[in-house]
Amino acid sequence: MKAVIPAAGLGTRFLPATKALPKEMVPLVDKPAIQYVVEEAIAAGIKDILIITSRWKQAIEDHFDRSLELEFYLKEKEKDEHFNEVLQIGCMSHIHYIRQKVPAGLGDAINHAREFIGNEPFAVMLPDDIIVSEKPAIGQLLDMHRKLDAPILSLEQMPKEEISRYGVATATHMDDRLYQVHNVVEKPPAEEAASDLALIGRYILPPEIFDAFDRTGEGHGGEIQLSDAIDMIIEERDVYGYRFEGRRFDSGTVTGWLEANIEMALTHPTYGQGARDVIKRLNGTL
Ligand code: UTP
Repeated sequence: MKAVIPAAGLGTRFLPATKALPKEMVPLVDKPAIQYVVEEAIAAGIKDILIITSRWKQAIEDHFDRSLELEFYLKEKEKDEHFNEVLQIGCMSHIHYIRQKVPAGLGDAINHAREFIGNEPFAVMLPDDIIVSEKPAIGQLLDMHRKLDAPILSLEQMPKEEISRYGVATATHMDDRLYQVHNVVEKPPAEEAASDLALIGRYILPPEIFDAFDRTGEGHGGEIQLSDAIDMIIEERDVYGYRFEGRRFDSGTVTGWLEANIEMALTHPTYGQGARDVIKRLNGTL
């Protein structure tokens, strides 16, 4: 299976940091956000990844490229740990790129993957959603997909005050973490949300989604929305939702990013102790 990582958005909620720096390159503890998502795909056995970028996002391509000067320098200075890490990032998986020239929405971004994907089901992973879990979140969805041979959407139960920031599913609970999804609505007002089940940025989609994008007009915010295309697919076949196991952070907002940094630093093998010391010291002053 191939994966598509849409990373062409403007990241306005993270300005001014994202004026020149792609949102996906903002680090969480010591790694850019998008690296966590690429590593999640690789851990789930996905080997071909297409990143949808845009004009000012060259740093993403540079990050996953080899850096011969840096490798040479680190080798010379016997900084073996950094050398190995830098080399490994430069050799990660098969990463391909295509540019979305106008930020016309998430659906439009994914539609750029049509030729890369061909006629097979594929994974979509949004780099805003960082998921820390024992088993890679996209791997959990893949398992369900193999079992049901159907599109799978990742779901998370959300408190009412946050639900209007997400696509919301109307769904029937089937078993344990599995739901059948009957429709999805992009960012409904909280009082109109059909459930507390929010769509999170991991999907296994069928290739028919590309034709659905062609039939989808501008949706919420004047953009081509993935939720609208999924809604069309639901009319034609069974679509399931899976409440994945794991802790998710929304690193596309400053508050979510801060939360992710704090929690992830506390359990980090190198920086965990330092982070815990800082929190202990601050505790008395809060
Ligand atoms: P967001 O809704 O978070 O939009 O996109 P954004 O532009 O990145 O950020 P804000 O809202 O301005 O702060 C969700 C995902 O879809 C991608 C983004 O890169 C992000 O991964 N996206 C969005 C595109 O690739 N192209 C688009 O036109 C819109």
